[in-house]
Amino acid sequence: MVLPRRKPSVLASETFNVKHSAWFSNGRKRGKYSVFVMVFSVFLVFTFIYNDDVKSIAEYRPSGGDKSPGITHEEFPIAEPSRKDDREVNGFHQTKEAKRSMETSVQEQRSAPEREDIVRVVESQVIREEVHEETREAPEPKPKRRRVVLDVPESCDLFTGRWVYDDVSYPVYKEPECQFLTEQVTCMRNGRRDDGYQKWRWQPRDCSLPRFDARVMLERLRGKRLMFVGDSLNRNQWESMVCLVQSVVPWDKKTLTKNGSLNVFRIEEYNATVEFYWAPFLVESNSDNPKMHSILNRIIMPKSIAKHGKHWKNVDYLIFNTYIWWLNTPTMKVLRGSFDQGSTEYDEVDRPLAYRRVLTTWSKWVQKNVDLNRTMVFFMSMSPNHIRSTDWDDPKGIKCALETQPVANLSHPLDVGTDWRLFVVAENVIKKMKVPVTFVRITGMSEYRKDAHTSVHTLRQGKLLTAEQQADPATYADCIHWCLPGLPDTWNEFLYARIASRPWRDH
Ligand SMILES: *[C@@H]1O[C@H](CO)[C@@H](O)[C@H](O)[C@H]1NC(C)=O
Ligand SMILES: *[C@@H]1O[C@H](CO)[C@@H](O)[C@H](O)[C@H]1NC(C)=O
Ligand SMILES: *[C@@H]1O[C@H](CO)[C@@H](O)[C@H](O)[C@H]1NC(C)=O
Ligand SMILES: *[C@@H]1O[C@H](CO)[C@@H](O)[C@H](O)[C@H]1NC(C)=O
Repeated sequence: MVLPRRKPSVLASETFNVKHSAWFSNGRKRGKYSVFVMVFSVFLVFTFIYNDDVKSIAEYRPSGGDKSPGITHEEFPIAEPSRKDDREVNGFHQTKEAKRSMETSVQEQRSAPEREDIVRVVESQVIREEVHEETREAPEPKPKRRRVVLDVPESCDLFTGRWVYDDVSYPVYKEPECQFLTEQVTCMRNGRRDDGYQKWRWQPRDCSLPRFDARVMLERLRGKRLMFVGDSLNRNQWESMVCLVQSVVPWDKKTLTKNGSLNVFRIEEYNATVEFYWAPFLVESNSDNPKMHSILNRIIMPKSIAKHGKHWKNVDYLIFNTYIWWLNTPTMKVLRGSFDQGSTEYDEVDRPLAYRRVLTTWSKWVQKNVDLNRTMVFFMSMSPNHIRSTDWDDPKGIKCALETQPVANLSHPLDVGTDWRLFVVAENVIKKMKVPVTFVRITGMSEYRKDAHTSVHTLRQGKLLTAEQQADPATYADCIHWCLPGLPDTWNEFLYARIASRPWRDH
């Protein structure tokens, strides 16, 4: 892959302008501004140094059969992302306490004997059930509908906490029991030996995250639509959600259909759907074809969202994301004009600035088109990658390929190269919105999970990696996507906690 070779000084001044707008509109301290510019220049130097280290990671294509949803081939060459200095400036740190406890729990896991005695903390303590038995007066047959309301306080920061090994409560479902998993994510079936990655429970510091209960969730979905909109990481999460809810539905009462950019999982007896819509930049782009993704020269139209947006109307739960497709170059190409008119000229805009434009367009769409009386809206923060094992002090590692444990050494801030500038942009855009949108801060808690990627136990260009390819993780490991069951199940528990904590309203 060829990245634009330009003088760093030119880039640096562009970036300066970007940060200028982002910085002051954030209302942050001026004192840190010059520090940031310096730090950011360092990042740019890194960017150029590491251009040669850019690797392509192939995603997947249909594995055969009608059951495979949204299977596609994508490539993710990734420019060296920003380094930790960005996030230090932005102030994203786990508390010391959280780090220490994290460390403790990981060590405990190592030395623990066979564990049958672990208490199922999560399920018991947090659920306050408000049961309205709608059928109480009726004579018999109708099944009871239990209207459960979880007691997860709105004010609780679910995203600061630690990973605790818990092989009693997790995984929520088993890999062979979910027929809807695509070959891309079935790591055990694809040859992975260790399964510890399925058994970590996220423990927020200040409250508890309830274990996913499919019946409770399905009751919230009754007569409704839930839709993920975004890139392959959101599809990863969609697959997880399908598996989380499908276990309690008989085999002949659920279907998965695929039509262009839209995948729909339908649960007949609940008249509910769990859908995924492919829009890797949310706005219109030249990467919108759900099947042909090998586009390195990515161009977006940051003000055009209506074409996609018309498919998102009248949905009851909307979950958006966009990140991974932004990473292959430090700048984003912004079309002058429109694809429909055959325009080809574009401007190169710094990544955070282009991201802000896109999210501003998105936020306007939400404000104009979403009836918040009906719809809950979520935006997922970035899903992190684990490309360089030195990021977690393992010089002998090969990308994420040899990892079987979450990051345990938190004596210094973790830095796996996430572009935290985009986190700040998203947070600020969402804060300014007139309607409530939940920003789901998965980035930090996911950065610990170097063990949870599909690595070499996945597909490349639609085929399982061969033994030779598996033996060469430096070239072939996918350290972007996640095994299922696995980390995205926890992301969905965040959604579940918010959705099922809302009071019931009759429509
Ligand atoms: C099924 O759900 C859709 C919304 O997804 C709704 O418009 C429709 O009225 C529902 N049908 C029944 C029979 O409840
Ligand atoms: C597929 O989607 C298109 C466009 O949204 C629609 O017109 C068509 O009816 C759909 N086809 C099926 C089989 O659902
Ligand atoms: C939302 O519900 C409230 C109270 O039921 C109502 O006053 C308001 O008009 C509704 N808003 C919309 C956009 O339907
Ligand atoms: C943790 O990280 C620090 C700083 O990189 C390092 O000095 C230390 O040896 C590490 N500890 C362990 C147990 O790996």
